[in-house]
Amino acid sequence: MPQPPASAERLHAYDVWDAPTRWFHWINALAVLGLIIIGVILLNDDALGLSANGKILLKEIHVVLGYVMGLNLIWRFVWAFFGNRYTRWSAILPYGSSFWGKLRAYGSAFLSGEPQEYVGHNPAARLAIAVLLLLLVLQAVTGAVLAGTDLFWPPFGRWFASWVAAAGIDPAMVSPLAAETLDQTAYKAMRAFRSPIVTIHLYAFYVLAGVILLHLIAVIVTEIHEGGSITSAMFTGRKILNRPPQDV
Ligand code: HEM
Repeated sequence: MPQPPASAERLHAYDVWDAPTRWFHWINALAVLGLIIIGVILLNDDALGLSANGKILLKEIHVVLGYVMGLNLIWRFVWAFFGNRYTRWSAILPYGSSFWGKLRAYGSAFLSGEPQEYVGHNPAARLAIAVLLLLLVLQAVTGAVLAGTDLFWPPFGRWFASWVAAAGIDPAMVSPLAAETLDQTAYKAMRAFRSPIVTIHLYAFYVLAGVILLHLIAVIVTEIHEGGSITSAMFTGRKILNRPPQDV
């Protein structure tokens, strides 16, 4: 009977990402990709010669994707109380008295060329995830306000519509494309209120794009350095390691 190669005998598979966490990850990745693509088109609306109607349609698609992203994020936050030990808050956020010591140990082992293996997130990944989640929350909150100011859509749309509705106009009939439904003074005040929010949404987008790029580079570097299976683990739920992990 053929024997497995010596190196294969040391490989060990660990269950890590449960199904809800994997679904969250890929729904989030696809939704954010769509949000970025449409966001970049919205940013270049004039250069692309978009009509007012075309711009509204793109905003609507952007906001629908935003709802998917936001609800998926809320679901993940709930799951962080119930999921397996690798998917809970304590394993994904950078806190706890031992965290900084673990980060230092991970950093020096990485630099020495003998990286430590983790079944769940390594300490550097926990830092990156905290930043990513914060930026996603910021985008979801500012986006939800902009959905109200720009489209009069939930969760705050009714409130903004009541603010800017012209006298005698039912707030439900207010439309960003129908000037006669708007009280121009109130509309100007509402746009001034909106202005810093769209600025935060824009700058958070730039930072998020940079952090996503770092996330992708970190995944590739980890795959190469640790000879691991972190990308396939996000599909199969199982991670294959060839050294004893720090977190079992
Ligand atoms: C990762 C998440 C997100 C990214 C990367 C993103 C990115 C962007 C970008 C680049 C713009 C163009 C900004 C500008 O024109 O100045 C934009 C606009 C907008 N976003 Fe998002 N967004 C995200 C999430 C959301 C969410 C969750 C919602 C709503 C639920 C939303 C609603 C809007 C709206 C209404 C606009 C139009 C504002 C305008 O006129 O520019 N976004 N977004």
